[in-house]
Amino acid sequence: MKASIALLPGDGIGPEVTDAAATVLCAVAAAAGHQFHFSEGAIGGCAIDAFGSALPDSTRDACLAADAVLLGAVGGPKWSDPKASVRPEQGLLQLRSAMGVYANLRPVRVHPRAAEFSPVKADRLAGVDLMFVRELTGGSYFGKRQRDADSASDQCRYTVIEIERVLRRGFELARSRRGHLTSIDKANVLETSRLWRETAIRIANEYPDVCLEHQLVDSMAMLLISRPSAYDVLVTENLFGDILTDEAAVLAGSLGLLPSASLGDGKRGLYEPIHGSAPDIAGKQWANPLGSILSAALMLRHSLGLEAEAAAIESAVSTVLDRCELTRDLGGDASTSQITDEVLEALRDAHFDSRQAAA
Ligand code: NAD
Ligand code: IPM
Ligand code: MN
Repeated sequence: MKASIALLPGDGIGPEVTDAAATVLCAVAAAAGHQFHFSEGAIGGCAIDAFGSALPDSTRDACLAADAVLLGAVGGPKWSDPKASVRPEQGLLQLRSAMGVYANLRPVRVHPRAAEFSPVKADRLAGVDLMFVRELTGGSYFGKRQRDADSASDQCRYTVIEIERVLRRGFELARSRRGHLTSIDKANVLETSRLWRETAIRIANEYPDVCLEHQLVDSMAMLLISRPSAYDVLVTENLFGDILTDEAAVLAGSLGLLPSASLGDGKRGLYEPIHGSAPDIAGKQWANPLGSILSAALMLRHSLGLEAEAAAIESAVSTVLDRCELTRDLGGDASTSQITDEVLEALRDAHFDSRQAAA
């Protein structure tokens, strides 16, 4: 097949990890006989420096014209002055909104070797297989902001339609998994959360085969660490999902391992690891590229319909975690490009080729 992929490396370790993921995508395309056409665009701090905008029109238009977008990370100390009028993160939020990608899927699996780097005890980590669905284009991220000399506010607003569509995505996923959905809110305090909970109860009638449970976000933060294997699909609003998924990365052993897929109503999606630009390790080839490589696998699955290819990448990453020298976040000394080469070798060893892709 032919596909056009917009590549947005961004800032900090973004270029290092997207380079790794693009290399893996090229290898898969060559092995399976696909043609992926990459077009690179600027976003974030580097786009502010070059164009004065965190999301230049040319980048936005290229993303809207592509079949899928692979993004690294944006931001860094250079652009973090609280008084700055334009920030790298605005570019990412504008892109998510322009693409209409309201459902952010953040799968969390725990590989036994990486689990050794989790502070959570091994018996709690056995069998953890979570799918977070974070609402991505609403809530306090997109509400009205106000600031004067001695006060500030960020409005948190949700419409019923915004809540319904992301919950439906969660119920569909739960149906294809273990049939359990946890809706996370703060309905004991927030009006948006009461609307969220009412909507979840109503939408659940359409999915009698899925068991719906509600959790308040504060106790969910605790339960995620104390009994993570008890959960399947977890759906929540934008800010809660941002915080809980970085917490969930602690279960997996490193923030550098977690991928994400941001989807709207069509096939086009935005794919990015959940970590940031990691300014503390940028430019050193220390970044773990596996979260970005796994995001590329999600792109093959959700936007390009290439399930065999996606599974081959996931299996190669698992093999690398089983047997190779890992990056520093996982106690090893391997560089970003060394671990990428190991993924390529694992793909070759698995004899992934066009026959398997077509099967
Ligand atoms: P971060 O995720 O960049 O880093 C947190 C810690 O995790 C750091 O110690 C970092 O070295 C480590 N880490 C992150 N990814 C890693 C990887 N792949 N391999 C090894 N170690 C890794 O969070 P932060 O430091 O709070 O934020 C830095 C900047 O990134 C901020 O400007 C923030 O806004 C931005 N950010 C961007 C995104 C994004 O573009 N999607 C996501 C989160 C944060
Ligand atoms: C993430 C990041 C972003 C978010 C920032 C950089 C805007 O933390 O993708 O998790 O909060 O959504
Ligand atoms: Mn985040």
